[in-house]
Order: sequence, then C-alpha cells, then structure tokens
Amino acid sequence: MFDINKVREDFPVLRETKDGKPIVYADSACMALKPQQVINTLVDYYTKFTACAGRSPHKFSRETTKKYEDAREKASTFINAKDPSEIVWTRNTTEALNLASGVLQLDGSETIICTSESHNSNLVKWIFLANNNKIKLNILNTDKNGLFKLDQLIEVVESCKDGKFVVSLTHVSNVTAAIIDVKEIAKIVHQREGIFLLDAAQSFPHQPIDVKEMDIDFMGVSMHKACGPTGMGFLYGKYELLEKINPLIYGGEAIADLVLPKTIKFAPPPSRFEAGLQNYAGAIASGAAIDYLDSLGIDKIQSYETKLSNTLMKGLNEFGDQISIVGPKNPNKRVALAAIDLKEINSHEIAILMDDMYNIALRSGYHCTHGFHHALGLEQGTLRPSWYLYNTIDEIDIFLEALRELLDTLG
Ligand SMILES: Cc1ncc(COP(=O)(O)O)c(C=O)c1O
Repeated sequence: MFDINKVREDFPVLRETKDGKPIVYADSACMALKPQQVINTLVDYYTKFTACAGRSPHKFSRETTKKYEDAREKASTFINAKDPSEIVWTRNTTEALNLASGVLQLDGSETIICTSESHNSNLVKWIFLANNNKIKLNILNTDKNGLFKLDQLIEVVESCKDGKFVVSLTHVSNVTAAIIDVKEIAKIVHQREGIFLLDAAQSFPHQPIDVKEMDIDFMGVSMHKACGPTGMGFLYGKYELLEKINPLIYGGEAIADLVLPKTIKFAPPPSRFEAGLQNYAGAIASGAAIDYLDSLGIDKIQSYETKLSNTLMKGLNEFGDQISIVGPKNPNKRVALAAIDLKEINSHEIAILMDDMYNIALRSGYHCTHGFHHALGLEQGTLRPSWYLYNTIDEIDIFLEALRELLDTLG
C-alpha cells in the first residue's frame, strides 16, 4: 500500500516552515526533493570511505568502486537493460542526450526527427548541427493539446534513407504533460533501421520503463528529478550502439592504453564515457534513490500520481475561460503537472505571489521550451505546478485556492 503520510516522513525538508506555514513544494519536474535514505548515503560516502573508483588499490577506493558499480547495476535492473555496461553516468539528461548524438556521422546525409514541444536539451544541438549543414532536421508540430501527428512522423520516416535517421522524442513533456506511445514509435523507427532516442527526464521518475520491451536505443534520465542527488543522470544505450560513439570528454579512465606519440586505445563502454574523476557520491546516492523508488514500487507511485493528476485537472477545469491548460484534457493521458496559460497575466508575477503569500514553490516562464511557447503565442509564459510522490491532495487544493484568490484579485 502507498502510505503518503509515511512517505512524507522520509523527506526532512517537508518539515520546514516559513512564517509558521508549511512549504507546498510543486516544482518536482525541475528538481525532486530528497529522502533521508539518499541524504544518508551521500553523508556516508563523505564521512566513511571518500575515495575515487577504479584506480587506487586501497580499501576506501575498493569500497567506492564496488558501490559505484552496484549503483550502475541498480539503474540497469530498474529499466531492465541487458547489462549494467549499458548505463553511462552523466550529469543530467542534457548531457546524456548530447552524448548519444555522437552516433551521428555528421556528413549531412542524416535526418533528425523531433517535435516542437521538446525541451531545449533535445532541440538546441539538433538546430545547431542543422544550421551548420551537418544534419537535416525535421521538427514535427505539437499542438496545444500536446499531440503531434503520428501519420506525419510515419510520412517523414518513409522519406528518409534506411538507417540514416534518428527519431528523438520526449516520453513525457514537461509542458504538455502528454505521454507518448514509445513501443509503437520504436516499431515505426526500427522498420526502417533508424535510431530511436528517448528523453525520459519526466517519465523515468514516475512510471515503469522497460527498455528491452519498449525497444529504446538510447535514453536520457536525470536522477535529480527522481529523488536522487543534484547533478546526476545517466544515458542508457544498447551496447552495440554505445560502442560506435566517441566520448564527449577525453581523459583518464576513458582509455585502455596510450602509446606515444599518437596511439590511443579507448576503453569499452561505459568507462570510455566517464573520463576524469567522477561524482562518486552522486552515483552511489543515485543507487539509493533507485532503491527508494523500488521500495515504494514504481507502479504504485504511478497510480498515486494519477490520482493527483485527476484532482489537479478537475480543479483547473473549474476555472473556465479564466485560464487554459496546455496538453491533453484527459487526466489519464497526462502526468501530474500542468502548464497553465493565465491569458493576460504574466506567469512570473503569479509564481512570485504564490511563493511570497502562500509558500507555494512552483515554476513559471517557458520551462526551456521557448520555441513551443512562442509557436503557441504563450508570450506571458505558463505557470507550472508539478507534483510528485510526496505531495498530497490537500496541497493541490491549497494551490487551487491560492490561484482562485490571486486571479480574482488581479483578473
Ligand atoms: C522533458 C525534459 N527533458 C530534458 C530536461 C533536462 O533535464 P536536465 O536539466 O536535468 O538535463 C528536462 C528538465 O526539466 C525536461 O523536463
């Protein structure tokens, strides 16, 4: 059973108050709060065995190596990868997606297909490469309901040369909250030998992902959105594809050998991509975050969050024309976040008042989807509450009540 009161006790920051009032944290799509179990793991690393992994022969280093690799194995098992060597630790989803782009030949012959609601981390590099004639880029339009046309995707895929295209999509949008059908799309991509790259920043923390069953080629994840420490993420890649890509960063641990003046033998993945001393504390604590999600059950987390999503959408629907919601109307087709268009009212203004007057922490602006906001004419930005496993229905009601009061005063 998912016991929300017990879950909340795991998050020490939820005991904080400001002016005698509790904090309502509704910014988890940006950064999730950390359970005590993850904090303890970080403290243990720094107080009991601080060392680097993989290099020195002493006991601290051996313990770090073991825990660093155990954490990799936990990540691998959590997404049902074939082998832990398919997990590369990165700083975040952004770095993971940039690393995966190394699979491209960059000779101008390949097409990248992505969608307009994509986060900048899954757009900027493609646009940069296209502007420099290294790739052809096809950005499919996502509408205000959060949908792109599957027929259009199929049409573009059919116009590409076999094996000469990459489809790079967002599993769950941080703005439309829409969930795409990964398995169906993977089938379309693989029928023409394309590569399927998935931005799972907003899905991995909230729902089960089975990379084998879904047939994902590369996937980027941010552990800091999944109860893990900040500045941690990973790239999942099918091993045979990882073997084809060059590192983003060159240096120690990334090579098997070097003979002067010019012979470099790269180490196999994942070491090849983890040059220099790493964030060992972060990786080990990411393992603790995965243990934490596992202990609650990712299925149960998903069901609980569906209830939060239902409450949020039901409450927002009662605002009528005062606001509009970006993304699908059906709460079962979205996750527990909403980008709210406040019409003439600037989203930052409301976010600041929410924080100052009600202790409600949420996000405003373009949420790193500038292109999509401009395309939809949402120049005032959108107000985005995003809820996670430690939030309650009561907190959503507090947010809805605060929004009602502010809109009545300012509207
Ligand atoms: C859908 C999506 N993709 C990618 C990212 C980038 O994540 P990070 O900043 O952790 O690299 C985010 C962050 O909010 C996101 O929501």
